[in-house]
Parts: sequence; structure tokens; C-alpha cells
Amino acid sequence: MKSYFTHLQCTWCGNEFPHEKPIRTCPDCGKVLFARYNLDAIGKNTSRDVFKDRASNMWRFFEMMPVIDLENLVTLGEGATPLMRAKNLGATLGLENLYIKDEGLNPTGSFKARGLSAAVSKAKEVGEMRVTMPTAGNAGGALAAYAASAGMEATVFMPQDAPLANQLECRALGARLILIEGLINDAGRMSQEMAAKEGLFDLSTLREPYRAEGKKTMALELAMDLGWRAPDVIVYPTGGGTGIVGMHKAFQELQQLGWIDTPQPKFICIQAEGCQPLVKAFHDGEDSAEEYPNASTNAAGLRVPAVFADYIILKVLRETGGTAIAVSDKEMVDAMTEMGSAEGVFPAPEGAATLVGLKKLLDQNFLTGSENVILMNTGSGYKYMDLL
Ligand SMILES: Cc1ncc(COP(=O)(O)O)c(C=O)c1O
Ligand SMILES: [Zn+2]
Repeated sequence: MKSYFTHLQCTWCGNEFPHEKPIRTCPDCGKVLFARYNLDAIGKNTSRDVFKDRASNMWRFFEMMPVIDLENLVTLGEGATPLMRAKNLGATLGLENLYIKDEGLNPTGSFKARGLSAAVSKAKEVGEMRVTMPTAGNAGGALAAYAASAGMEATVFMPQDAPLANQLECRALGARLILIEGLINDAGRMSQEMAAKEGLFDLSTLREPYRAEGKKTMALELAMDLGWRAPDVIVYPTGGGTGIVGMHKAFQELQQLGWIDTPQPKFICIQAEGCQPLVKAFHDGEDSAEEYPNASTNAAGLRVPAVFADYIILKVLRETGGTAIAVSDKEMVDAMTEMGSAEGVFPAPEGAATLVGLKKLLDQNFLTGSENVILMNTGSGYKYMDLL
């Protein structure tokens, strides 16, 4: 397996930068950087058919990933999660092709494993062995796990009311956990201050280019599992939005490679009623989202009031013909049981929120019923016992 990672490019000003040294946001304008690959060479030298016979984890897509040397991979078997046909819910809702992608089966029980496997591997490759990060909960546990495996020192800043399971797993997996008063943005500021003070590398999502590359693999798996096509609709519970950013980028790269000839899926952004900066900005016709005041929801992963990649996500929703929907905490918690008892998948409240959103889409006649619809269950329900 050979690397085709060439450089980084700013999503705002378009300027290009080398990837050999540690880098976070655009040195010129401060916005999000994307990893760029020599797609022509990938197309010439390899084929989409090589991936299915490789070890079943997300690094099977190595040619489209940002690590140069295989020696630097920090992997715990993340990815390769099942895409299950939700036939019982589908029959109830009148959808012929409804699927759940169960990201709760990842190491540390959430899709955050993908982003952190990529970011920690790349940090190791550029020699950053002391890292820090703010988290709403699940990403902290994932960082702790990958840092432990890499022999790195990890510091995690987490709101004190994040799920107990997230706090305990961080400690058990060897991270320095700092519980803070406030929300993830406050944790982000503290993490940056600590990074400056102690010379740590900050892995805050989308403020470094590689967590999105890890999340990109969810879309690569969807395309492969559907026989090299994109689904029609992806319903995604959105906090910082790294999953939407990464999956849209993946389908774009697959289109450029000529490995799929279907259009981008419609991306549906689900947020909580108590924290819906993107839903508000989308329906107000804005290109950016203001910080959401007094953010509050039981779905810890959705409690992200200020969205750094707002301009990318809003563009993706509009360009793909998607939309944005807010759901209540009660609806989400009820939907944990509904999805669980119908399909045997025990979702995180964030994942269950996609089912609530789907029903609202059906009420709005947004779907015809024949589309290929994917509900992204981003995490395991086991970490949220107190909600039930
Ligand atoms: C279970 C779960 N779902 C969804 C999200 C939101 O993810 P993203 O940052 O990709 O929007 C989080 C983030 O913490 C999460 O833990
Ligand atoms: Zn820039």
C-alpha cells in the first residue's frame, strides 16, 4: 500500500501548504485545511476492487488516507462497521431501502474512533507525542485510547456534566482528564491555552486536518457496501459537523476518481432543539452560523454551540439538496427505545435523533419512499444509561 497524500489546501482562501510539519488551520486565514491527494495517480495505479480483500478496518482505504508510512498507523480495529437494512422500521415507515450504519461498534463505542485513529497516527508521523483536546464526551475517550496505544501523553478537557462513562473511560485509558465548567467551546479555549503553555499539540476537530479524513472512511464504506454508489440520503446527527464534512469530501474524491457515478447524497443535518446553530442558519438563509445562546441538550455530542466549519456544512446542505432539522431531547430518548426494540441496535441519543429526524422528513413529504436512506448511529447507547 502506497501513500498518495500530496499537500494541504485551505477550504476558504485556496492556498496550499506542505504536510510534512505539524499544521492545524490555514496559516494565512485561519480556516479549515483539507488533505489533498494525487487522485490521477491513484486512479492509474490502483482500483476500487482492492479494498474489500484487505483487513477489515478503515485503513483498508490507505491510498486515500493522509499517513505516509504504514509504521505510523495507530489502529485498534476501527471502522468496517455494519450497514444493516432496517427492515422493521422501514416497513413501519413505508421506506423500501432504509439502512442503519452502526458506528456504536467502533473501539470506545463511537465513530470518534475513526477521527482519532487518523489524527493520532498523523500526529505521531510528524513527531507530536504530547496532545490535548476539548471534547463533548466521546472524542475524549477515543483520544485516550489511541494515545495509549501510541504511547502518547493525552490531556482531555471535558464539560463536567458530560456522560459519566466518557469521564471514566478517559481516566481508565490513561488520559489526564480536566473537567471544566462550561461547554465544549470553553473547553476548546482552555485546551488551546494549555497547548501554548505546555507545548502540546491541539487536536480540536477541524482545527487540524486529519480527524475529518478518518470520518471520511464512513462514506468510503457506504459506497463500497452499496456496490460502489452513493446512497440517496444520509441523516446525520451534527455537532461540530466533522462527519458531514468528511463524508461529502469522500464522495467528491470517489466521483473524481470515477469510482462512483452517482450524485452526492442529500445530507440531512439533525440537531437538538436546545442547541441548533446550523438549523437556524440554514433556515435563515445564512452562510455562517452564529454561536447558539444557552445551549443545552442531553445528547452530549450535539451540544456544540459554535461550529468552526459552519461555512462548509451549510454549503454542503444546500448544494446536495439536503436540509436541517431540530429534534427534542424527549423525542431522542424515546427513539433510543424505538430503534432498539425494532432493529436490535442500541443507539446513542445522537444516533436515535436521526430516526426522529427521518419521521419529520416523511411528515414534510421530503422523501418519496423509494430512496436509499442511511441513518448514522454515531455511538453506542451503553454510555448513556442515566438517560434511560
Ligand atoms: C455520539 C455522537 N454523535 C454525534 C456527534 C457529533 O459529531 P460531529 O462532530 O461529527 O458533528 C458526537 C460528537 O461528540 C457524538 O459523540
Ligand atoms: Zn486560508
